[in-house]
Amino acid sequence: MSAPVLPLNSRGKLASSLPAEQLAEISALFEFRRKGYSLDAPFYTDATIFKMDMEAIFGQHWIFAGSVAELPEPGDYITVDYGPYSLIVLRNDDGGVNVLHNVCRHRGARVLTEAAGATGNLVCGYHSWTYSPEGNLIHASAPGEAKFDKNCFALKRAHGREVAGLIFVCIADEPPTDFDETSRIFEPYLAPHDLSKTKIAYQQNIIEEGNWKLVMENNRECYHCDGHPELACSLFPTWGLTEGLIPAHLEEVWDRNKEAQSSLEERCRRYGLPYEVVEELDTRIAGIRISRESLDGEGESFSADGRRLSKKLLGDLPDFRLGRCSMHLQPNSWFHFQSDHVITFGVFPINEHQSLVRTTWLVADDAVEGVDYDLEKLTYTWKQTNLQDKAFVELCQTGAGSPAYEPGPYMKSEYQVEAFINWYVQRVQEHLA
Ligand code: FES
Ligand SMILES: [Fe+2]
Repeated sequence: MSAPVLPLNSRGKLASSLPAEQLAEISALFEFRRKGYSLDAPFYTDATIFKMDMEAIFGQHWIFAGSVAELPEPGDYITVDYGPYSLIVLRNDDGGVNVLHNVCRHRGARVLTEAAGATGNLVCGYHSWTYSPEGNLIHASAPGEAKFDKNCFALKRAHGREVAGLIFVCIADEPPTDFDETSRIFEPYLAPHDLSKTKIAYQQNIIEEGNWKLVMENNRECYHCDGHPELACSLFPTWGLTEGLIPAHLEEVWDRNKEAQSSLEERCRRYGLPYEVVEELDTRIAGIRISRESLDGEGESFSADGRRLSKKLLGDLPDFRLGRCSMHLQPNSWFHFQSDHVITFGVFPINEHQSLVRTTWLVADDAVEGVDYDLEKLTYTWKQTNLQDKAFVELCQTGAGSPAYEPGPYMKSEYQVEAFINWYVQRVQEHLA
């Protein structure tokens, strides 16, 4: 006899279809999560918890999809896949974005199969059902078909919004509304870099053999940054540490960091650029950390000596020495905005043990490769860093699969990891409530 099935839960399909016993087991894992410690192994390895993540996190929240530079003209689109979902994000004639589920209403084929492109109407490759850019079914001819109401078979729509040139999607019927407040926090920091006047210099897709949460956890700390020699040239090796936590051998670096930060802040005040740290990673639904922080060396960009990597300033920025404006957003993104280029990072879960990490380097739209920037040099630091991070994540995924694994304590410098996990647990529990 099968286990009893819970009554329908209006918010979640998975929660409603799980046998009560299994749901109770999963709920207990969330409830008894030991604060300050990494998660129990099933959070990283179990297919049912992955489905729960897709429902409670990726099905409910605003997800970073890409930037305006990826779809600058009407008809340009990107497809964004995560878990079982595939979305089409399409630039419309009004300058906004249409977000459509990439699932044909005939027999479910993927309508668009490329990662990016340009299109007028959307034509399914299977039987040529044709949809308008808004998703309306406008053509579905078949011999002998008489009564067929096309109005009932539009592509399903989802929510899309653009803030400071970043595009976010949400597939929930009713997206969380506090994203408005989060947007008001980050918009003034990012807008001066004017993403609408940038272009893609390079985009990299890496598949990491790791659960999406391990990818995010790895991003939320720099305790491991000794493993990033190229990045360590740009970041002060004291990143993530605070007064009182500085070991003796780093005191000199700490002083240099403080000096660079105070002259950066002085420049920001002069130019009217915000730089203060806002940190609300687990105190709001659309969790955020944003700040503008100095870079080592010349303080301009992610190069070995801190010098600019593109000769063209972004937007109307007045100075190259603006360090990095860095933003962490829950659940799936982080960003570095320099004066000469921007790097966006999006994590798109594939299954419980694989994630796609998409990194995009953006430069001023009038910057010329080979003249204003050298693509190898522009991408070098983060290409190396991404490969190193992939290896770290994969080490942890392997460990989580071992019967010997048990949760270990986060160190003080890993407080953002704890904040991410805390946010995640809260959000799922709220979904299950
Ligand atoms: S599945 Fe798309 S037209 Fe048949
Ligand atoms: Fe890293």
